[in-house]
Amino acid sequence: MPDDQSTREIRVNTSPAYTVTIGPGLLKDCGRRLRDIMPPCRMAVVTDSAVAPLYLDTARQGLEAAGFAVCSHVFSAGEGSKHFKTLSEILEFLASEHLTRSDCVAALGGGVVGDMAGFAAACYLRGIRYVQLPTTLLAAVDSSVGGKTAIDLEAGKNLAGAFLQPAAVLCDTECLKTLPPDVFADGAAEAVKTGVLCDESLFALFEDGALKADPAEVIARCVTYKAGVVERDEKEQGERKLLNLGHTVGHAIEKCSGYTIPHGHAVAAGLAIISRSAEALGMTEEPIARRICACLTALGLPVSTEFPPDLLKEAALADKKRAGDSITLVIPKKIGRCTLETVPVDSLLFTIRAGWRT
Ligand code: GLY
Repeated sequence: MPDDQSTREIRVNTSPAYTVTIGPGLLKDCGRRLRDIMPPCRMAVVTDSAVAPLYLDTARQGLEAAGFAVCSHVFSAGEGSKHFKTLSEILEFLASEHLTRSDCVAALGGGVVGDMAGFAAACYLRGIRYVQLPTTLLAAVDSSVGGKTAIDLEAGKNLAGAFLQPAAVLCDTECLKTLPPDVFADGAAEAVKTGVLCDESLFALFEDGALKADPAEVIARCVTYKAGVVERDEKEQGERKLLNLGHTVGHAIEKCSGYTIPHGHAVAAGLAIISRSAEALGMTEEPIARRICACLTALGLPVSTEFPPDLLKEAALADKKRAGDSITLVIPKKIGRCTLETVPVDSLLFTIRAGWRT
């Protein structure tokens, strides 16, 4: 049960099952909370150069107060770090600290940290336990939940990785207060995406501006939706692919920009393009593109891209969602209903063009 009314708990019934706890002040209390699910052990905190100055000491003190022996590794912040060299440095760090399978990795940070620390935990000693301590909105609403971990390859984003569910997710909503506006907006894109997938009542929260007024409520609603999808399809064989709404074009935009455009901003433009395209091609059941674009714009996110459709198509075809001569797209039909459509790669350019704006 939650400790108090401002803390929300969501159970994710995967194998293994775990709890996502959302609320203020969780970082300074993280050791006590983790003691509920594991005995004192060595805790290797992996974080980045943006997060370490803000939260590493708080996390360390919270863990040590509860009896964990803490060591830490900090890598350079940014998507540019999400590659083999950073992974191998984390693995060497874990080995140099003699972590065993009884120990634990803590991913303290945003989506890149969660992916890197999670993938290192999945590889080290063929898999050790890890926990997610998300500090960004993007990690809170999406990437810290569901056990996806990965690094980028030259050919594209997230092309090498593993599924490994965390032992726990502790989302301290106080951390959101220090986020620069564009980093907050980055997570807002994944939250709006979840609203489009989920239902009118969640989507209405974005239309009503609730994300800024009550982020904890929106995070909890997004995590609850995602938990259900992940429980039904942990390894992305079917339904979980819906969570890639906006990501085929989004990943292409990121790739075309040399990963200088942040993930959420690229997903926002990708979501806008696929929504306009679906509507223009008569695939939607009601007008949705204007509503989606209005939410994204109000949150400071882009709804267009300067990269031309043919370049986006080429980048998208390196995406892991391609299977031979076809690619699976997530098509929004209406708010609360999206479908997976497998289309020939030849028609991808046509689809992108139909929703593309500069
Ligand atoms: N971010 C999409 C997923 O976790 O499946």
